[in-house]
Amino acid sequence: MRALTWHGKRDVRVDTVPDPTIQNPTDVIVEITSTGVCGSDLHLYEVLGPFLDPGDILGHEPMGVVAEVGPGVTEVKVGDRVVVPFNVSCGTCVMCGQGLHSQCETTQVHEYGTGASLFGYTKLYGQVPGGQAEYLRVPFGNTLPIKVPHGPPDDRFVYLSDVLPTSWQAVAYADVKPGGSLAVLGLGPIGDMCTRIARHLGVETVIGIDLVPDRLERARKNDVETIDLRQHGKDLADVVRGLTGGRGPDAVIDAVGLEAHGSPVAKAAQQITGLLPDAVASRLMQTAGVDRLGAVYSAVEIVRRGGTISLSGVYGGMADPMPMLQIFDKQLQLRMGQANVHRWSPDILPLLTDADPLGVDDFATHRLPLGAGPEAYATFQKKQDGMVKTLLQPRLG
Ligand SMILES: NC(=O)c1ccc[n+]([C@@H]2O[C@H](COP(=O)([O-])OP(=O)(O)OC[C@H]3O[C@@H](n4cnc5c(N)ncnc54)[C@H](O)[C@@H]3O)[C@@H](O)[C@H]2O)c1
Ligand SMILES: [Zn+2]
Ligand SMILES: [Zn+2]
Repeated sequence: MRALTWHGKRDVRVDTVPDPTIQNPTDVIVEITSTGVCGSDLHLYEVLGPFLDPGDILGHEPMGVVAEVGPGVTEVKVGDRVVVPFNVSCGTCVMCGQGLHSQCETTQVHEYGTGASLFGYTKLYGQVPGGQAEYLRVPFGNTLPIKVPHGPPDDRFVYLSDVLPTSWQAVAYADVKPGGSLAVLGLGPIGDMCTRIARHLGVETVIGIDLVPDRLERARKNDVETIDLRQHGKDLADVVRGLTGGRGPDAVIDAVGLEAHGSPVAKAAQQITGLLPDAVASRLMQTAGVDRLGAVYSAVEIVRRGGTISLSGVYGGMADPMPMLQIFDKQLQLRMGQANVHRWSPDILPLLTDADPLGVDDFATHRLPLGAGPEAYATFQKKQDGMVKTLLQPRLG
């Protein structure tokens, strides 16, 4: 089959690789019809290289049709339409039972001391072959895939794999009371969806912050107050306070993560690790702070006293310098983590109807053949061509 594979920094290729096969009785093989490209994939493309091997199959936002089932699978059958959550979670352990699927005890990666395995996401997360491919092996066939109806386009359901539960969790963790205020840093797919969910759940003031004109414009169309960082890099906190009664918003979602623009020192550290031999670089990634922390610093600065910061942007450094004085003095709450997909899908599924309150049907800016994957990564990283969300569709070629 064809699959998108990682070969080095900014080097993603279309390779021909062996088809996946059933390895355990509860495995299913899914023929992928749509598969998203995520901001998290950009971290693999740029800074997380030390944790990948050339040839690793990327992708963690797939959906498709069940092509084959193992003998122990009773809950789905060949021909069923399914979405595959990005967490590889068993659904039956203590963590999964508490709705903490990204901490699944069956798939935690003990070698690195990390949480649940993820599809297509480095050795830190189990080096599991990903879903930007024609076929995907999905373990835990009775509990992991989310069955969805045939009929509506893939766009209706594909974001259940990641974008929707991640954004839902970010808004839930922000915990803004009705009538309250929320600022969202970053208006990529995650930040954009956070603004939509917040509005849907009744947050009165929703402020979106980014520096890419078409992303700001897209949010504005959804009734979000926007701030362009290119104009307000220095006085951001003042502008945000001006929109929130002088205090700052009740909560801030950081939907940017470890590659924020605007922290030159950490950018240099990231680049150095990119040049070092793998063994040294992965050690340094784990022990030294190498994240660009611009967004999380902004979040601490702009949130009101006693407010909440909800981090959905991914961070990875083990010794990132955090402004503890300000965090403690302002009495902030920090909540974060990979999204627990199954925890939120029962809340989200009823919204995926023809009425489409979250606008998922038109959410993708690009629907491209799998073969266009390498260019899509480059365009998405450079934020060109109006690209916000790309769905790769193997049946297109
Ligand atoms: N927690 C989870 O489970 C989970 C799941 C999916 C994605 N993520 C993470 O969420 C983040 C966003 O993902 P995405 O797909 O929307 O990616 P993206 O890269 O398209 O979006 C990031 C946006 O942040 C903007 N930005 C950069 N620096 C900024 C700054 N200092 N202040 C404000 N905005 C800034 C960029 O212009 C961009 O629009 C990534 O870090 C990704 O890894 C986390
Ligand atoms: Zn993703
Ligand atoms: Zn589990």
